[in-house]
Amino acid sequence: MTARTKLVCTLGPASSTPKMVQGLVRAGASVFRLNFSHGTPEDHDRMVALVRQAEEVVGRPLAVLVDLPGPKVRLGQLDPDPVVFRPGQRFELRPDGPGDETGAPTTYPGLAGDLRPGDRVLLADGAVELSVEAVEEGAVRTRCVAGGVARSGQGVNVPAERLGLPAVTPRDRDGLARAFALEVDLIAQSFVRGPEDVRELRSLMGSRNLPIIAKIETRPAVEDVAGILEEADAIMIARGDLGVELPNEEIPLIQKELVRAARAAGRPAIVATQMLESMIHAPRPTRAETTDVANAVLDGADAVMLSGETAVGDYPFEAAATATTIASYAESRGGPFRAIPAARHHTTAGAAVAHAAASIQASELGVVAITCYTETGRTAKLLSAERPGVPVYAFIPPVDVRRAMCLLWGVETLPAEVPADTDGMIALMDEGLQIHGLARTDDLVVMAAASPTGRATTNMLKIHRVGSSVR
Ligand code: PGA
Ligand code: MN
Repeated sequence: MTARTKLVCTLGPASSTPKMVQGLVRAGASVFRLNFSHGTPEDHDRMVALVRQAEEVVGRPLAVLVDLPGPKVRLGQLDPDPVVFRPGQRFELRPDGPGDETGAPTTYPGLAGDLRPGDRVLLADGAVELSVEAVEEGAVRTRCVAGGVARSGQGVNVPAERLGLPAVTPRDRDGLARAFALEVDLIAQSFVRGPEDVRELRSLMGSRNLPIIAKIETRPAVEDVAGILEEADAIMIARGDLGVELPNEEIPLIQKELVRAARAAGRPAIVATQMLESMIHAPRPTRAETTDVANAVLDGADAVMLSGETAVGDYPFEAAATATTIASYAESRGGPFRAIPAARHHTTAGAAVAHAAASIQASELGVVAITCYTETGRTAKLLSAERPGVPVYAFIPPVDVRRAMCLLWGVETLPAEVPADTDGMIALMDEGLQIHGLARTDDLVVMAAASPTGRATTNMLKIHRVGSSVR
């Protein structure tokens, strides 16, 4: 089962078996997220091995996405655990010491230096709201505004623009080193505040330049998404923390705005969190969730993501299959309701060729597929950004490049040998389409490529009749 919109599934205890990972692939998953906020290094090693094993079994590349925790402040140990908060109650956030009903330490000892009276502090994904009354001797004195329950280790959300924590924490550095050792394909960066945060992570990568997915989950990031899109390879609309940091009612429109910005920049956008939340405990989604997945597709997202549904839920396979079914129906029947994309600028030869390929495909010629040969994946990204009405088959020699393409809307990658010349390149695409049963003799396809092969960027378009090979 597949949809043109890609599916990212988070791995966790509920899905860390060969059978389940392979099942998720059959249900449409092509990217697997390892959330480094949870699990042990041994868990992560095992998950990567499971994905690579599934690749072998299903016979196509899959991507492993490592999600780095970022500068997220968490509560220390509480006793009693949980603590029940009532409006009016005083609570202190301290640099260290034990935690109880009167106060608790956090994972960020410098917190008091960043906060001022009147600031809002949210605990446990917004379940408890505190207001800062005073900051004294390293302690933040607050009063509870909205009561609720908070447990040890749960999140402490403070105004992101003033948080003094570095964008890349020591824990992220350690995570990045492990991600490299595991040869993963994509890195997600949490709590990005601006383009400089992405640059900082990028500078730590050196020559192993993996694609960075900037998670948009703070107000400063929403406000400067255009700047972030210049530095990052993709964005994730991380609605979980976004809904804590910003008023909930703003999320639907922010989602549309962010997807549109990503589309205009030609970068993939992933819509994430609570898409099929009730399926953590039920085999069928609510009508509201079904509508949410369809709306993400109609907004123009490249991918939708499942979190708890596949990581800790009772129905991981059903959740993935449901997301795929909803997405493919919305794709095939939702045309008239699709968001009108913002105008894209085609400022390079490659972008102009991709644009032309899509417009030839949309003509009355009857083009059944667009193909490209690319060693870096660049042409595949440009073609995906045009959202053509037929499949994009990208012939790519390096398997790691093929894996990273798993996030791209509408793109399927195929293996290739490096051709000797342009005729060889056209022939390998022609033969590849037939060998893999993707086109028949006399079908019309559009080919985008670079000529001379390996020594130019995308600069060529061919309207090609399958079987009329050049050799
Ligand atoms: P998380 O990110 O699952 O790592 O918190 C996604 C979100 O905040 O929506
Ligand atoms: Mn988050």
